[in-house]
Amino acid sequence: MSPLLQLLLLAMSLRAVNGQCPDYLQYSTGHHEPFSSGKYNLSYQRPSPGCRTFTSQGVEDAIVRVKADITDPDLARLFENSYPNTLDTAIKWKGYANGSDEELTFVITGDINAMWLRDSANQMQSYLPLLTASSSNDSIASLYRGVINLQGRYILTSPFCNSFQPPVESGLQPAPNPSASEDKVRPPYNNQSVFECKYELDSLAAFLEVSTNYYNATQDTAFFRKYSWVDAVSAVVDVAESMMTPTYAANGSVNVSPYSFTRLTDRASETLENNGLGNPVQNGTGLIRSAFRPSDDATIFQLFIPANMMFSRYLDSASNIVAAMGDQRDLARRMSELAASLRSAISTFGIVDSGDFGQVYAYEVDGYGSRNIMDDANIPSLLAAPFYGYLDMNDPIYRNTRTLLLSYKNPYYMRGPVISAVGGPHDGPGYAWPMAAIVRILTSDDDVEITEQLKEIVSSTDGLGLIHESINAFNVSDWTRQWFSWANGLFGQMILDLEDRKPYILKQSFQ
Ligand SMILES: *[C@@H]1O[C@H](CO)[C@@H](O)[C@H](O)[C@H]1NC(C)=O
Ligand SMILES: *[C@@H]1O[C@H](CO)[C@@H](O)[C@H](O)[C@H]1NC(C)=O
Ligand SMILES: *[C@@H]1O[C@H](CO)[C@@H](O)[C@H](O)[C@H]1NC(C)=O
Ligand SMILES: *[C@@H]1O[C@H](CO)[C@@H](O)[C@H](O)[C@H]1NC(C)=O
Ligand SMILES: *[C@@H]1O[C@H](CO)[C@@H](O)[C@H](O)[C@H]1NC(C)=O
Ligand SMILES: *[C@@H]1O[C@H](CO)[C@@H](O)[C@H](O)[C@H]1NC(C)=O
Ligand SMILES: *[C@@H]1O[C@H](CO)[C@@H](O)[C@H](O)[C@H]1NC(C)=O
Ligand SMILES: *[C@@H]1O[C@H](CO)[C@@H](O)[C@H](O)[C@H]1NC(C)=O
Repeated sequence: MSPLLQLLLLAMSLRAVNGQCPDYLQYSTGHHEPFSSGKYNLSYQRPSPGCRTFTSQGVEDAIVRVKADITDPDLARLFENSYPNTLDTAIKWKGYANGSDEELTFVITGDINAMWLRDSANQMQSYLPLLTASSSNDSIASLYRGVINLQGRYILTSPFCNSFQPPVESGLQPAPNPSASEDKVRPPYNNQSVFECKYELDSLAAFLEVSTNYYNATQDTAFFRKYSWVDAVSAVVDVAESMMTPTYAANGSVNVSPYSFTRLTDRASETLENNGLGNPVQNGTGLIRSAFRPSDDATIFQLFIPANMMFSRYLDSASNIVAAMGDQRDLARRMSELAASLRSAISTFGIVDSGDFGQVYAYEVDGYGSRNIMDDANIPSLLAAPFYGYLDMNDPIYRNTRTLLLSYKNPYYMRGPVISAVGGPHDGPGYAWPMAAIVRILTSDDDVEITEQLKEIVSSTDGLGLIHESINAFNVSDWTRQWFSWANGLFGQMILDLEDRKPYILKQSFQ
C-alpha cells in the first residue's frame, strides 16, 4: 500500500470513529435521553456501548443490581452514570510493553489527556469491590496490573512528578501542557513522558495504595516479582527519605533540596516560595515534606499531615507484599520501620491545640510551631483519614478535628443553599466540592448526616447527572469540570459501601 493511501485510510478511519463517538468533553455538557423520572430530570450520560473505552460484565451486573436497590430515580440515575465513568471514558489505551507480556493501562483523568498517579490509583479503587484474581486481559484485575506496571515505569523514570504522558507503545501523541512550558524543575524531566512535575507525597502513596488493593484482593505475589515493581518501591522509599531533609544543616548552612520548582504564573498556589524551595522546614520532626497538595496547589508548610498519614498507612500495608517475597527482607523492614516512625512523628508534631475544639490534627506544620488549620476536599484530606485507613472514625482526636473542619472554623468549609461542603483554594472560596460530601458519607455512621449529604449531592448536578469538581454553594448552574472521572467513581464506590453498610438509606426518596 502506498504511504499516501495509508494516510488516506487512516484519516477516513479516524473520521469514522469521530463521527460515531462524540467527544465526551462536549457530550457531558449536554442533556441526553432517557431522562430520569425524578424531580431533577437527570440526563443519561453513558456513551453508547460501542464508544465505551472498556467494558466489564462485573460492573454492568453491579449497576443493574444496585439500581434495583435504590428507590429514588434521580439517585439511581446518578449512580448509573457515574460508577462506570472511568471504564466508559478514561481507559485511553490498554496494551503491552514493547516485546513483553507486561500489561500497561493508560488512564486519563477525564478532561485532561494525561495520567495522574493519584487519580488513576483512585479511579481503579472504585472497582475494588469487584476485583477478583484473573489472568484474563479483559478483567478488572488486568486493568489494575496495567496501572501498577505503568505507574512503576513512571516512578522509575521521574519519581518527583505527578502526571504523565501516554506510553510510547500506545502510539498516542504527548499532550501539550502550556502551563508547564516555562517551569523550572530540579531534577529535570522529559516532557515526552511527563505532563507535569509537581512533587506530591500522596502521588507516591497512591502507587502503594493501588498495589496494596490489588494484592489484598488477589494475593497475586507472583505478579509483583515479575517486572520492576520492587525497584519502583525502592525508588519511592528513596524519594521519601530524601525529602526528610530539613532546610538547614546543623552548622546553619542551607541544605541542597533534592527538589525545587518554580512556574511563571499569576496564581500564588502554582509556584513555590524561596526560589522554588518552599517555606523552611525544621530539623528533627521525622515527617516527610510535600511541595504540593493533592489539589496540585503548593503547600504553605511542607509537613503536610494527610499525605504523611496516607503514606504511612500504605507503606505499612505494602511492606507485607515485599515481605511475602521472601528475598526482600531489608526493604520490607525499611518500609515498616518508616511507616511506624511516621505515625509517631504525626502524633508528636501533627496534633495541636485548637482552643475551642481541643486537640486536633493540623493540615500542615513546619516544625517551628507554625500550623495551618484547615482542610481541602481532595484526598488525602484530614476528613478522609478513616477512609484511607489511617485511623478509626471514632478516634477522639479525629472526632475533634472533624467537628472543627465541618464548621466555619475551617477557612475552606463552604456553606450555602445549594450544597455545603469542604472546598479548597484550587477553585477558591465559594465553591464546595461534592468529593468532600462523598467522603463525609464514607466516614460517617450517622444516618441523618448521610441522608442530608446524599440529598445535597443528588440535587446539585445541574440536571447533568454527573459529579462535578466543585459547585458554587449559591448557584447550582455555576460549577467546574463536567468530566472528572475520579469523583464519579468515588460516588459509585460510596453507594456500593452504603448498599453494604446501610441498605435502608438507599430505600429513601429524595424528591
Ligand atoms: C427534562 O430535561 C430535558 C432537557 O433539558 C427537557 O427537554 C425536558 O422537557 C425535561 N423534562 C421534564 C419533565 O422537565
Ligand atoms: C487480549 O489477549 C488476546 C489474546 O489472548 C489478544 O487477541 C487481545 O488483543 C488482547 N487484548 C488486549 C486489549 O490487549
Ligand atoms: C519496539 O521494539 C522494536 C524492536 O526492538 C523497535 O524497533 C520499536 O521501535 C520499539 N517500539 C517502541 C514503541 O518502543
Ligand atoms: C516539550 O518541550 C519542547 C521544548 O520546550 C516543546 O517544543 C514541546 O512542544 C513540548 N512538548 C510537549 C508535549 O509539551
Ligand atoms: C484487605 O481486605 C479485607 C477484606 O476485604 C479488609 O477487611 C482488609 O482491611 C484489607 N486490608 C488492607 C490492608 O487493605
Ligand atoms: C536541630 O538543629 C539544632 C541546631 O543545629 C540542634 O541544636 C538540634 O539538636 C537539632 N534537633 C534535632 C531533633 O535534630
Ligand atoms: C555544614 O554542614 C554541611 C552538612 O553536614 C556540610 O555539607 C558543609 O560542608 C558544612 N559547612 C561548613 C562551612 O562547615
Ligand atoms: C449562575 O451561574 C450561571 C453560570 O455561570 C450564570 O450564567 C448565572 O448568571 C448565575 N446566576 C446568578 C444569579 O448569579
